[in-house]
Amino acid sequence: MGSSQTSIPPKKNCFLTVLFLFLSTSSAQNVLRRGSSLSVEDDSDILTSPDKTFSCGFYGMGQNAYWFSIWFTNSKDRTVVWMANRDRPANGRGSRVSLRRDGAMVLTDVDGSIIWETNTTSTDVGRAELLDTGNLVLKDPGGKILWQSFDFPTDTLLPNQLFTKRTKLVARSHSGSYASGYFSFFFDNDNVLRLIYDGPDISSIYWPNPDFDVFGNGRTNYNSSRTAVFDEMGHFISSDQLQFRAPDTGLLRIKRRLTMDHDGNLRLYSLNNETGLWVISWQALSQLCNVHGICGINSICVNTPDPKCSCPPGYEITEPGNWNKGCKPMFNSTLSQSQQVKFVLLPHVDFWGFDLNFSASTTFDSCMKLCLGDYRCKAFSYRLDGGRTLLHKRRAFQWLPSAESETTIGSPSMYNFNTKKTRWKAWFAKFGGRRISSEGREEHDESDLTRFVRVVKRKIQCGETSWIEEIVDPRLNGQFSRSQATTIVELGMSCVEEDRNKRPTMDSVVQALLECLDES
Ligand SMILES: *[C@@H]1O[C@H](CO)[C@@H](O)[C@H](O)[C@H]1NC(C)=O
Ligand SMILES: *[C@@H]1O[C@H](CO)[C@@H](O)[C@H](O)[C@H]1NC(C)=O
Ligand SMILES: *[C@@H]1O[C@H](CO)[C@@H](O)[C@H](O)[C@H]1NC(C)=O
Ligand SMILES: *[C@@H]1O[C@H](CO)[C@@H](O)[C@H](O)[C@H]1NC(C)=O
Ligand SMILES: *[C@@H]1O[C@H](CO)[C@@H](O)[C@H](O)[C@H]1NC(C)=O
Repeated sequence: MGSSQTSIPPKKNCFLTVLFLFLSTSSAQNVLRRGSSLSVEDDSDILTSPDKTFSCGFYGMGQNAYWFSIWFTNSKDRTVVWMANRDRPANGRGSRVSLRRDGAMVLTDVDGSIIWETNTTSTDVGRAELLDTGNLVLKDPGGKILWQSFDFPTDTLLPNQLFTKRTKLVARSHSGSYASGYFSFFFDNDNVLRLIYDGPDISSIYWPNPDFDVFGNGRTNYNSSRTAVFDEMGHFISSDQLQFRAPDTGLLRIKRRLTMDHDGNLRLYSLNNETGLWVISWQALSQLCNVHGICGINSICVNTPDPKCSCPPGYEITEPGNWNKGCKPMFNSTLSQSQQVKFVLLPHVDFWGFDLNFSASTTFDSCMKLCLGDYRCKAFSYRLDGGRTLLHKRRAFQWLPSAESETTIGSPSMYNFNTKKTRWKAWFAKFGGRRISSEGREEHDESDLTRFVRVVKRKIQCGETSWIEEIVDPRLNGQFSRSQATTIVELGMSCVEEDRNKRPTMDSVVQALLECLDES
């Protein structure tokens, strides 16, 4: 690996330097001959593309999980673009990938069981080769390609990698995992490129905008070739007429990737060759709350701008720590006819994508009666201009981005709604009488980050000394400055203090980081 490519000042990247030294021990080869193999235990068993942009070998994460992968050699955090079998990692001992004599490339686990294989049992296969494009190919002695990783994308598409009706980009389940998640990018049966959330409970298409038809979204369903591709300049074209260009288009040497991210957004990235960081150059959705499934059933999503999930009054998080499962009612949701029903106002909230019925020019009262009369109706919204009414099934609520103020959810008065701010004037949810207080709401409202902070704080308070080793990237093999790491983690935790006033200013953060790094 050419160290000239990584022009990162070593002083400012105490962690990084160690990682790069570690990587640079690998010898560059881009070919694996028939009958040979790569071993998980040997760090130098890596194929590198001739121009060194891509590397291919075993990529390890966590305690003992390794994947046969292709990644960008020079991105700061190792960016994996392809994996052989993302849902079944291999053991850190004894696993290997072999180009067998019968022509198949096979990934085996410690016990010899097959984790993945190419179905190329042809004695014509002469070698495996990692190309400059990031494509791993099996070639015959004449150079003809018999199998290529480009035909089996994981969550990422690279320049000149053809996207077809047979391929799909499937997001990781969450950051910190490589397993298949629920969001994907694909050509739908009507020839249109779409994004879908396909989870255990609901499945729903959220891009392009489901409120418009194919042509309203600027696409066509007439061309059944179903192919899409983007070039090195960052120009994407598809047979359904989806087209976009990266703003840095024209710069040929920029490394790019199109990735179906774990948060449900599809993004085109450009690599900044000086920092090793990825810059977003295009994304399908500008507001993540429009991604279905982010907050799960019955929950409210707020763009802050990062999406933040919460439960409406009378509901609580179904599985603390996992917003995908949404919120569940704290009351008996099977309402009987005789039971008293009360509506609660949720200002600036839209119920997106799950409408049960729609009526134009109706009064507020008849709108409410319609909802009461249909057992499937959980809520309704009423818009004053033209008196449109929407009845909704029980699905994800959505908070409109314009609601910045601390709005009181759950005004018991039906007619007390704000008529000024948003397109949808009012939002009402139907609850089973009595328990509409917000009790128990915030107590369960804990994200992964807050849990992490809480756990680390407790460890520090209890005088545990091993906590820093536990949270620093294991790939550093313990080669880092304890005091620097401690400072950085403590700084990070102070930035996410509940109490806004306890958070440090940006200036003091930068100051503290510079001081910490100057110690090295
Ligand atoms: C090989 O074939 C098996 C069985 O048909 C299939 O499950 C597997 O996905 C194929 N592998 C590749 C890499 O195409
Ligand atoms: C259909 O799309 C393909 C790929 O973009 C393109 O080459 C072809 O010309 C299109 N066909 C028509 C009839 O527009
Ligand atoms: C980094 O990218 C710029 C274009 O943005 C290019 O001019 C420059 O040569 C690149 N540097 C290296 C070391 O590749
Ligand atoms: C909920 O209401 C139904 C119908 O009124 C009743 O059969 C059921 O027992 C109630 N469940 C609880 C947990 O109160
Ligand atoms: C929608 O509401 C109207 C009354 O406004 C009713 O006649 C119609 O049956 C409803 N449709 C559905 C699918 O519930």
